[in-house]
Amino acid sequence: MVGCARVPRVEEYLEVNRASWDERATAHAASPDYAVARFAEDPGFLSDVVRFDLPRLGDISGLRGVHLQCHIGTDTVSLARLGARMTGLDLSPAAVAEARQLAERAGADVDFVETDTYSAVDVLGREQFDLVFTGIGAICWLPDIARWAQVVADLLRPGGRLFIREGHPVLWALDDARPDGLLALEHPYFEHERASVWDDPGTYVETDVTFVHNTTHSWNHGLGEIVSALLGNGLELTMLEEHDSVPWEALIGQMEKLEGGEHRVADRPERLPHSYTLQAVKPRA
Ligand SMILES: C[S@@+](CC[C@H](N)C(=O)[O-])C[C@H]1O[C@@H](n2cnc3c(N)ncnc32)[C@H](O)[C@@H]1O
Repeated sequence: MVGCARVPRVEEYLEVNRASWDERATAHAASPDYAVARFAEDPGFLSDVVRFDLPRLGDISGLRGVHLQCHIGTDTVSLARLGARMTGLDLSPAAVAEARQLAERAGADVDFVETDTYSAVDVLGREQFDLVFTGIGAICWLPDIARWAQVVADLLRPGGRLFIREGHPVLWALDDARPDGLLALEHPYFEHERASVWDDPGTYVETDVTFVHNTTHSWNHGLGEIVSALLGNGLELTMLEEHDSVPWEALIGQMEKLEGGEHRVADRPERLPHSYTLQAVKPRA
């Protein structure tokens, strides 16, 4: 992290993050890690992320779903293949373009919209969805978790549910991998008005691309803050499960790769909650 001295203006953090994601979306679509070609080759192919989610997701056929921060659409198309009528939403025009191309090649009928998560209700309307799906590096780009929870609640029809699997806020608070193997809390765990500002020339998948736009603004949100934000917006919690793995190499050089694209700290992984799945339902009136 290179700084967190002040509260960024909305236009500033959206612009800075969009520039970074625009560059990375194209590289991610070309990376073997996102396996984009597999979707066209195999009509039954699902992303590792959605495959992991399957036992908790249950039957989603016939549901109208929105995937917030869908990136290049691999999970969105996977959810469509499970029978949901999906809309994907993302801030990055390049990510949305890649997602549309992926859906077309995969033969999936998915709508994609380009907008900020906080504008989702203005763009997509209130109470239109049975399922809000998000996570895996999504909510850290949003400064205010209560405002996000309100968006989720407003998007859902009564009886609809939120499904989020996300990097654990304890994982986000850790220092980079250390040679001594210690897991050191270095960054904010709780939501903070000031952004964490990063300058990272790389990305989380295999690529040869050299990036130019490397600055990002992000925010952590504590688990209690996330749960309280959802409860405060009228949702009822139905699942909160912490996992000892995460679907990217979060601590480089310190993790082992598991089946299904998951990664886990190699030494005493039981020290660390790596990710979590949370589900919450909007009560029927
Ligand atoms: C790490 S990616 C999400 C990854 C996704 N779960 C996947 O594995 O494909 C984060 C995405 O969030 C999007 N994003 C960042 N800030 C956003 C915002 N304020 N509103 C909507 N999308 C945003 C980025 O454009 C990027 O595509």
